[in-house]
Amino acid sequence: MTQGIEAGDARPILVFNSGVGGLSVLAEVRAAIPLAPIVYVADNAGFPYGTKTEAEIAARVPALLGRLAERYRPRLIVIACNTASTIALAAVRSALDLPIVGTVPAIKPAAERSRARALGVLGTEATVRQPYVDDLSARFAGDCLVLRHGSARLVELAEARLRGEPTADTDYAAALEGLLGQRGGDRVDTVVLACTHFPLVRDRLAAVAPRAIDFVDGAAGIARRALFLTKGQGWPEKPATGTIVFTAPLDTAPYFCTTLADRGLERIELL
Ligand code: DGL
Repeated sequence: MTQGIEAGDARPILVFNSGVGGLSVLAEVRAAIPLAPIVYVADNAGFPYGTKTEAEIAARVPALLGRLAERYRPRLIVIACNTASTIALAAVRSALDLPIVGTVPAIKPAAERSRARALGVLGTEATVRQPYVDDLSARFAGDCLVLRHGSARLVELAEARLRGEPTADTDYAAALEGLLGQRGGDRVDTVVLACTHFPLVRDRLAAVAPRAIDFVDGAAGIARRALFLTKGQGWPEKPATGTIVFTAPLDTAPYFCTTLADRGLERIELL
């Protein structure tokens, strides 16, 4: 239970992703709640999620979050992953007795912004085929053309970039072409970054785009929700060192460690 959390309480917010994608959400959570102790979990043993089946995600994510909740006793979990949220959010919520904030494609704000009434949804292959996306499109973008494209390559590019490896603009351009090259794609003025890895490469996508495109993601809204759900709770007096938990051993090269430390994640653990 999360009631009665008083000043000085060090219970963390747990931010969950298959890899480094959730760092785009973590940045907003940190900005909104600077004193929150953070446990960031990268399920690299299960990475990537976007090419898995619904059954695999539905089996993996609730079980893993259950283990993590027991181990780290978070006051709140942020599933900073569209793939995991669009498939397993309801199951996680019913399995765990603590608030869970999910990440779903930011179709609503994108529809509010599109002047051309034509949106693109760029996510993982698993996310873009979810009924959840049909539902969001019907509810919030009923008068818009909504094109979708799933790209596993873009997830790999974001991971590589965070590790300091070179990535090629032609790869970013190919991913965008998969969306904008569809019929009606020339009208699209707003693209939903429906995978949390993609805001980490937003600048490259903008650089290779054939025209000015408004790239929209939901991270700020997620942080506002986390702030709302922890309203009135106490926090430690000073910002604490954040922890990143990996689910499989990995090569933590110096560049990567610096990248993580720059985001406040200095302690590295293995689940
Ligand atoms: N970043 C995740 C998402 O928001 C998934 C990336 C992956 O593991 O394929 O969907």
